[in-house]
Amino acid sequence: MTQAFLVTGAAGFIGSHSVEWLLAHNYQVVGVDNLRTGHLENLEVAQSSPEFEWVLADVCDEAVMRELFRKHRFAGVLHLAALVSVPESFREPALNYQLNLATVDSIARLCLEFECKRLVFASSAAVYGSHAALPNQEFAIPQPQSPYAAAKLAAEVILLGYAASYGLEAICLRYFNVYGPRQDPGSPYSGVLSIFTDRFQGGLPVTVHGDGEQTRDFVSVRDVARANGEALTQMHVVVDRYNVCTGRGISLNQVLAIYQELFPNAPPAKYTAARIGDIRHSRGYPGKLQDMLSFKSQTPFEQGLRELAVGGLTDNHQDRA
Ligand code: UD1
Repeated sequence: MTQAFLVTGAAGFIGSHSVEWLLAHNYQVVGVDNLRTGHLENLEVAQSSPEFEWVLADVCDEAVMRELFRKHRFAGVLHLAALVSVPESFREPALNYQLNLATVDSIARLCLEFECKRLVFASSAAVYGSHAALPNQEFAIPQPQSPYAAAKLAAEVILLGYAASYGLEAICLRYFNVYGPRQDPGSPYSGVLSIFTDRFQGGLPVTVHGDGEQTRDFVSVRDVARANGEALTQMHVVVDRYNVCTGRGISLNQVLAIYQELFPNAPPAKYTAARIGDIRHSRGYPGKLQDMLSFKSQTPFEQGLRELAVGGLTDNHQDRA
């Protein structure tokens, strides 16, 4: 019998790519989203598969979610639905608590109630804070500096506690700077590559906050979807927290040099003051997930950025890992 998996936040950036990975690997998927920040258009590819069931619902609604668990008896859950904006978590700490902590607990308890063994949780590199030694390793003492990071860390702790108490196979994945198609460029706090791509494509100048020498560990959504899929479906996993990253730090000036090749007639970038609270360097150590899942990011940054900026990353989940 084909196994069914639940993906929450299915219509989001990472969610929709993860759904496609699962469908390409012949799993049944039930995708739930309330479309608060997700977009139904992201699921166009998924909707064409008979193995995909779309459910418009709020994951915070435990009664609705219980019915889904009862009906499908999921083999595993990929829990991505969240309040995704760090600035919004400052403005709305109660909502952050509800979406990024209380709901994680509720989904985990439903897993226990319906004997769904595996729960893969979307955590974040934000849990490390700005002072952790580089590269960030999972054993570092986390120093969350936002309500968002605090809730993600607390949710990890709850899940690992349930793992120890009840045998839940909880896998917490700490995503670094994920980029790729379908990332919403709509707010000043959107991922820098979604903003830059949008502006270069529109012939508009980009703004660099600071001197452009700040670095990030940019990981392609194609690789993140594969990490999610492998964590959800591999037979043997080790309950823990894992970085999802490349291990390589890339500066914004290096990023701009690639854009310059792709858009030679683009207006020059404007350099302004650094953002308050901006992290200078962020880079993860990828070895732990590599040991557990044989996972290694496969998309070289130059290639991923070219595909994002000038197209070509459409049918990206047919390749078997
Ligand atoms: C991420 C979060 C951010 C959070 C921070 C700390 C995202 C998209 N952002 O920021 O909300 O506060 O972690 O945990 O997840 N930049 C520009 N020009 C732009 C946009 C950004 O120069 O138009 C710079 C930023 O100042 C930063 C770098 O690009 O130095 C990357 O920015 P961003 O994509 O927002 O990611 P983080 O800084 O890692």
